[in-house]
Amino acid sequence: MHIALIAETHFGNTAEIADALAAGAKQAGATVTRVDAAATHLPPGTDLLVLAAPTHSGGLSTPRSRAQAVSQGAPESGRGVREWIAGAQLPDGLPAHAVATVTGPHSGSASRAIVELLNRRGLTATSRGDFTVAGTRGPLVEGEITRAREVGRVLAGGGVPTPVPAPVARRSPRRGWLARLLG
Ligand SMILES: Cc1cc2nc3c(=O)[nH]c(=O)nc-3n(C[C@H](O)[C@H](O)[C@H](O)COP(=O)(O)O)c2cc1C
Repeated sequence: MHIALIAETHFGNTAEIADALAAGAKQAGATVTRVDAAATHLPPGTDLLVLAAPTHSGGLSTPRSRAQAVSQGAPESGRGVREWIAGAQLPDGLPAHAVATVTGPHSGSASRAIVELLNRRGLTATSRGDFTVAGTRGPLVEGEITRAREVGRVLAGGGVPTPVPAPVARRSPRRGWLARLLG
């Protein structure tokens, strides 16, 4: 069993999750490659592809959203997971798992976008899961690294991780009419 993990990151949080997944999957053997450096073909003998990306504007990053990340302090970056999928040679039917980092459960997810793009490429067995950051630059919410290791362990065992809703980073106080309505 070999797992190829390809990760996009701008502030380091999604890379941390990818590393934790690989650590959890060590019984299988996993390689983590940054999407900028990833070849368009997978290593021979890849049994599972894991794609990890930060959520930008409810989905995968674009050149414009990556420029916005740079304007918020991220280093310059090349392509994202969206562009990697477009150019990749992907064996039909290869199992895959999509991972996103998100700031909360209600603002879209890059993992959903990954599943859609992979489905169009014939990879129909794609599970997904999200991990929460406290803000645009992070950090990851407490417990997420442990959860990522556990997901890696399950994937390495050939299982499909049970989708666990990503924890909410912080609850904003209810104000005004919403507070009165909800009590
Ligand atoms: C341009 C931009 C747009 C973003 N849009 C969203 C969004 O729609 N939903 C969300 O949950 N997080 C959004 N975020 C926050 C990212 O989720 C966060 O930056 C990312 O998870 C951090 O991962 P990284 O350190 O690997 O880049 C956005 C961040 C940037 C820079």
